[in-house]
Amino acid sequence: MEIAFLQDRLERYFKWFHRHPEPGNEELETTARIGEILHEAGIEVLDGRAGALLKTGLVARIQGKTGKPVVALRCDIDALPVTEASGLPYSSRKAGFMHACGHDFHTTSLLGAAMLLNEEKETLEGTVKLLFQPAEEGGGGAQQVLDSHILDDVAEIYGLHVAADHERGLIGISPGATHAGVGGFKIIIKGKGSHGASPHYSRDPIAAASQLINTAQLIISRNTDPFDQAVLSFTHVEAGNTWNVIPEDALLEGTFRAFDDEKLSWIAKRLQECCRAMAEAMEVTIDFSWRMYTMVTNNHATLSEFAAETARSLGLTVIPAQPGMGGEDFALYQKSIPGVFWTIGMNSPEGTHHPGFIADISQLSTAAVLSAALARNSLARLSGKP
Ligand code: NI
Repeated sequence: MEIAFLQDRLERYFKWFHRHPEPGNEELETTARIGEILHEAGIEVLDGRAGALLKTGLVARIQGKTGKPVVALRCDIDALPVTEASGLPYSSRKAGFMHACGHDFHTTSLLGAAMLLNEEKETLEGTVKLLFQPAEEGGGGAQQVLDSHILDDVAEIYGLHVAADHERGLIGISPGATHAGVGGFKIIIKGKGSHGASPHYSRDPIAAASQLINTAQLIISRNTDPFDQAVLSFTHVEAGNTWNVIPEDALLEGTFRAFDDEKLSWIAKRLQECCRAMAEAMEVTIDFSWRMYTMVTNNHATLSEFAAETARSLGLTVIPAQPGMGGEDFALYQKSIPGVFWTIGMNSPEGTHHPGFIADISQLSTAAVLSAALARNSLARLSGKP
């Protein structure tokens, strides 16, 4: 397929996805449209266990000369509850939702890779699974895919993300961690309410909450090695409903992130210890709970070098990936499957998750060509026919 022809087609697909954002686990129209495009291109969509277990999202398969080895290319398909303010003529038509993290770019470029690989399937040294993953933004999408066992036979996995502030078309690849492990916590403080004029009759949950918020800031600033990257933020505080009543309880929520899974558990432990001590000091009860949303991404060292070489062989410029405290559930696949998560520069006026984020659609075919090359070359290497 001519690259100009592919680019033109991908731009049309992209604009449809951009206009029709759907949040995680609700990507029904998106999934249907992906299925339709794959069907038109004569590419097999897998049903079976994955179909039964994935409510949204899908997996397609391109079988080459042999069934094995199998490699996977992954994208995510969900959008965010953000109201678009990009000014694009093809802006979101769904009020309150936007593809503000480039997942429409990932989806479209993977469709392009599927078309390229399908054209050359007689020469592929194995099988490529194309994973259109739902619910990356905290909706448990990667876990749903793993639970479907659709990736059980996959030897290597590659995924991409837009890099908002890298120059257009630069490919970011680094071995090791590029995205942080993400923990989320919830704290419920139960005190005793009273008249605002008689605080001595209360066990004030707001006073306890404010002390706790301040104390928790010390976990990163005083307990963490300054050379370790970690962050802790309170993002949701709720208590009371009027000006002259001390309420019974308070709710706090937030997130902590680190570049090491053990560090994440350690921060949770310290936060729990602060809660316990604060409960005693302030004569309230404090219930602390947390969960790990994603682990730290971990790019395989040798495969990162392979991916960088593949990109360079296509004439692309490779730079180190920009590490960030944002999470990425691609990390879950990397626990059991060696893989690489790479980025492509968008030079966007605003960062991802911002209403003004703009994906550079001129890079769609470049991303598709690189994805296809990663699959083709890894199959050749795995089957000993490079
Ligand atoms: Ni994203």
